Amino acid sequence: MSYKKVVQIGASGNTGSPIHDALIQSGKFEITVLARNTSSFSSSNPIVKVVKIDFSNHQQLVDALRGNDVVLLTFGDLPNLERNSKAIIDAAIEAGVKRVIPSEFGVDTHSPTGRRQIVFDSKVKIDDYLEEKSNEGTIEFTSIYTGLFFDWRTQESQMFLGFDMENKRATIYNGGTTPLNLTTLEALGASVVSVLSTPAKFKNRRLRICDLYASQRDILALLEAETGIKFVVEEMDANVLQDEGEAGLRKGDLSLSNVFGAILGATFATNASRWSPDDDTASLGLAKQDLKAQVLKILQP
Ligand SMILES: NC(=O)c1ccc[n+]([C@@H]2O[C@H](COP(=O)([O-])OP(=O)(O)OC[C@H]3O[C@@H](n4cnc5c(N)ncnc54)[C@H](OP(=O)(O)O)[C@@H]3O)[C@@H](O)[C@H]2O)c1
Repeated sequence: MSYKKVVQIGASGNTGSPIHDALIQSGKFEITVLARNTSSFSSSNPIVKVVKIDFSNHQQLVDALRGNDVVLLTFGDLPNLERNSKAIIDAAIEAGVKRVIPSEFGVDTHSPTGRRQIVFDSKVKIDDYLEEKSNEGTIEFTSIYTGLFFDWRTQESQMFLGFDMENKRATIYNGGTTPLNLTTLEALGASVVSVLSTPAKFKNRRLRICDLYASQRDILALLEAETGIKFVVEEMDANVLQDEGEAGLRKGDLSLSNVFGAILGATFATNASRWSPDDDTASLGLAKQDLKAQVLKILQP
């Protein structure tokens, strides 16, 4: 039986927004968006209730969560992720919420390689905390690892995956020939809908998904073939990016360049978000996608 009453925290973010849209489009859920008092988030959709609170006020958090089945965390704010997530998990337990979906959606932070990455320290601690709480039987969790988002752009034309569509440039890490587990934003949203539609099947599970399995070079070849334009390629050493990013993080500098450097290093240098293409995608009812069709999609203006 589906969990119906879902609280989402971070609905306007990079990850939160496509998941929020998928929850709405499924028509299956009553959605409460919990946002900070300072947030500009609003919704005119009748199935979405927006509640603004002071997250540092434990009682406000408990009251806002009470009566709901699920709390879905889709916020970033890495420096405070552990503290914020644990405060929400504690409040969710007190409020009788059944399931937490933590703010993962990337590298497999439960694998031995993932657990070693400094940049994911907070995610590892949250994972350990959820393991402990689920063993006590106080709350359930489902974690979703997606690898890099295939079609996420950090800026207008710049894809996190290294392609600048407008300027026809590509940043290729460590040769770019290693295939990666990649997830489209559409599959990201669909994965959460699927977990909440059949929650018993995914109780206390860590799910690895990808609807594409391709290397940067595979993508570049298709981009060039479809546009008829040779991209300007910059070769990057992901080990250097990782070393520099991690050195900054160790000094307590959690700037975006250090975080991105460490994540790109974890992905391309240590293969932390690589697993078999034969993963949990099918058990969530999600189809693998054709790379060429997806490349044509990202080429659309
Ligand atoms: N696999 C990938 O390629 C990829 C890419 C990006 C992110 N991710 C992962 O996805 C997760 C979310 O990251 P993101 O980039 O989507 O986050 P984000 O865009 O930085 O999150 C912004 C959202 O979070 C809310 N928020 C921020 N701090 C908050 C706090 N302290 N309390 C409550 N709400 C808060 C904001 O709400 P307001 O409305 O209050 O401002 C906004 O809705 C992370 O785990 C990240 O690692 C993965």
